[in-house]
Amino acid sequence: MDQASKKIAVGRAAAAEVAEGCRLGIGTGSTVNCFIDALAERGIELACVVSSSTATTDRLRDHGIAVSELNTTGDLDLYIDGADEVDGAGHMIKGGGGALTREKIVAAASRRFICIVDDSKIVRVLGEFPVPVEVIPMARSFVARQMVKLGGLPEYREGFVTDNGNVILDVRHLDIVDPVSLEDRINSIPGVVTVGIFGRQKAQLTLAATDEGVRRIDY
Ligand code: A5P
Repeated sequence: MDQASKKIAVGRAAAAEVAEGCRLGIGTGSTVNCFIDALAERGIELACVVSSSTATTDRLRDHGIAVSELNTTGDLDLYIDGADEVDGAGHMIKGGGGALTREKIVAAASRRFICIVDDSKIVRVLGEFPVPVEVIPMARSFVARQMVKLGGLPEYREGFVTDNGNVILDVRHLDIVDPVSLEDRINSIPGVVTVGIFGRQKAQLTLAATDEGVRRIDY
């Protein structure tokens, strides 16, 4: 099965996990787009839907699905999102699409996180994929130097501005044996808005599309 078909399969499997009346948070990316299409096809009544990016909001609205503000909904039952890497405990690297800050906020406001990926994203240890770090623009060089001190190789994502008006550093070569402590360490650097290590907001379930079908991985 090719990658596009896997994304469609896992999007459908994720849509089947959403209960009628759910208070739902939705992530960003090409896998999530397949989930949104499948959710729209199911046509179930949801209590509210909160989006993690303007791209996701646009897609939901194109399907006629109303989008609510997190400021008005309160906490959510379920968050569904893709990832760039997932390890054996449900920790993730996210933010390849640059929506990491809103994704982390909506994930934090949700009781349960279901991660949806194709099996190429499952890894033993995080870090092959460069870690995105959203940074306040004037702190870009300062934060880049702190990344080098941590052993990383930061690269400025040129020409990219986040939905929050910030910039992204993509950091290779970080040693991510303990995702939660590295997440905390990077988040404590002044100028860092969010690091794309999702250690604290990890998934409780991953749905991974394989050639044999969609595999469930509970943590
Ligand atoms: C968006 O900022 C990311 O966190 C995405 O969730 C992640 O990059 C996965 O995207 P794809 O489903 O497009 O691979």
